[in-house]
Amino acid sequence: MGDEFPVLGRGIAPGKVILFGEHSVVYGRPAIAAPVTRVWAEAIVTPGEPGVGITIHAPDLNRRFGLAQAPPDEPLAFVVRLTLEALDLSSPPDWTITIRSTIPIAAGMGSGTAVSAAMARAIAAAADRALPNPVLSDLVYQVERLHHGSPSGVDNTVVSYAAPVYFIRGQPPQLLRIARPFWLVIADTGVPSSTREAVMAVRRAWEADRVRFEALFDRIAAIVERARAAIEGGDVDALGPLMDENHALLREMGVSSPELERLVTAARAHGAAGAKLVGAGRGGNMIALVERERTNAVAEALRSAGATRCIITQVRQEAANAYE
Ligand code: PMV
Repeated sequence: MGDEFPVLGRGIAPGKVILFGEHSVVYGRPAIAAPVTRVWAEAIVTPGEPGVGITIHAPDLNRRFGLAQAPPDEPLAFVVRLTLEALDLSSPPDWTITIRSTIPIAAGMGSGTAVSAAMARAIAAAADRALPNPVLSDLVYQVERLHHGSPSGVDNTVVSYAAPVYFIRGQPPQLLRIARPFWLVIADTGVPSSTREAVMAVRRAWEADRVRFEALFDRIAAIVERARAAIEGGDVDALGPLMDENHALLREMGVSSPELERLVTAARAHGAAGAKLVGAGRGGNMIALVERERTNAVAEALRSAGATRCIITQVRQEAANAYE
């Protein structure tokens, strides 16, 4: 953008994957999640038309609308209103907020979460106000609730802190030390995944057989603890089998799908050390733990097995303030 449209504020937030513990995290068990910095959401604040207030512009979605005209439950407008309130900005300035994202939508990679975080950061930057990570994370959680009803809070936490986290619902997140970086191939089934519906399906199954589901959640919790020790101890070799075990338990919970199974099987057959679905499941993405030299071969095999998109990424220690 040239001098005509000076950028008043910019915010960026990464995608994410849940490495271990999705679904059981809703029921108070721990989860481990990491940012995926190869994909991101970005929001830019530029001067708007005088007297118009805030205009929200999402060119990828072909949407442009005024904040004042948006209904209360419009998610993008909701983020803006919450942020203005959090920053004590009572009268909205004349701004245009433009949003872009390279994160796959409805695929368990936190695209909506990252858009919210990027918008809040951009507004804070334009207003020259600080928005510390815990405040940002709480704000994004309010937006998540609009989408999902009762989210665990893991998504807003990992995306807001932009750092690997060990997370238990209702507790302050613990930032994880990644002793040895590792590589993931993330592959999209191309089947949209609704977090709300998957979470509700698990809830119904849990209500029908609490003893069985509580036992599954406990077994996943034990996997998460072992994974945490492996990640912090640099024992990358231990992570593959733990992913396989976590996937098997998610399948028992009923959140896998034929497409996910096909990709998980293909990844293992082509040398991945382990593989699992990520996020809500029943579609969306899976991840495979792969040695660096084999990442391209595994991605190729996943495409042949039907993946519509593959992202190769390294999980490593992120500077906690990389996105502030
Ligand atoms: O599909 P995603 O990336 O929105 O992940 C949802 C994670 C769940 O554990 C299934 C739900 C939650 O609120 O944590």
